[in-house]
Amino acid sequence: MAGDGDGRTASEAYDATPYLPGRGGLPAHRRAAAECRGCPLHRDATGTVFGRGAADARLMLVGEQPGDQEDREGVPFVGPAGRLLRRALEEAGIAEEDLYVTNAVKHFKFTRDETRKRRIHKAPSLRETLACRPWLMAELRLVRPELVVTLGATAGRALLGPSFRVGTDRGVPRPLPDAGNGTRVLATVHPSAVLRARDREEMYAGLVADLRTAVDAL
Ligand code: URA
Ligand code: SF4
Repeated sequence: MAGDGDGRTASEAYDATPYLPGRGGLPAHRRAAAECRGCPLHRDATGTVFGRGAADARLMLVGEQPGDQEDREGVPFVGPAGRLLRRALEEAGIAEEDLYVTNAVKHFKFTRDETRKRRIHKAPSLRETLACRPWLMAELRLVRPELVVTLGATAGRALLGPSFRVGTDRGVPRPLPDAGNGTRVLATVHPSAVLRARDREEMYAGLVADLRTAVDAL
């Protein structure tokens, strides 16, 4: 039988839904997410990296997935991308205590280099992103931010649909589909893309400009 090597057939859905608690706040969801087996990504990662921040934050940031350092520490955006993001947030005048920060996918996906020492980030598939989406939707429901800022393509696709493109869809606040409570969403680039870019200064300036637009939209 064709499978994914995790005891499921290829046609069997990846889905976090059965692991969500039927009730409770962020702490209950964080505890339940630690046990999530909704897709195969939990197998090789250290643990679930749930969102962090103010439960009543007006602004929610959504990244892609934890990186190597986030996976080790269990906290989103503590590595190099997180440092760049913190600098950009500071420049845009956004205080950390007004923020809730999370990722579209809660487990680290990676491959190993030839020496098998380094873990190299691998982008999550759309299937894995959709499997993990119930956790993100629960965070949205519980925090109820006024505005969500998606960082990069994966987060954009998770909240704005598979046809989302950062290049054309960034920088403009719009209603968040499926939220139903007036929450808006603004897409921007991922801080890791800034770190990799040849025109790093320009891309960084664009990130800060989008974050300023986010502040103005609050
Ligand atoms: N990149 C992300 O998208 N999220 C993190 O938490 C760290 C790096
Ligand atoms: Fe569950 Fe998301 Fe982790 Fe997959 S990536 S096991 S859906 S928490």
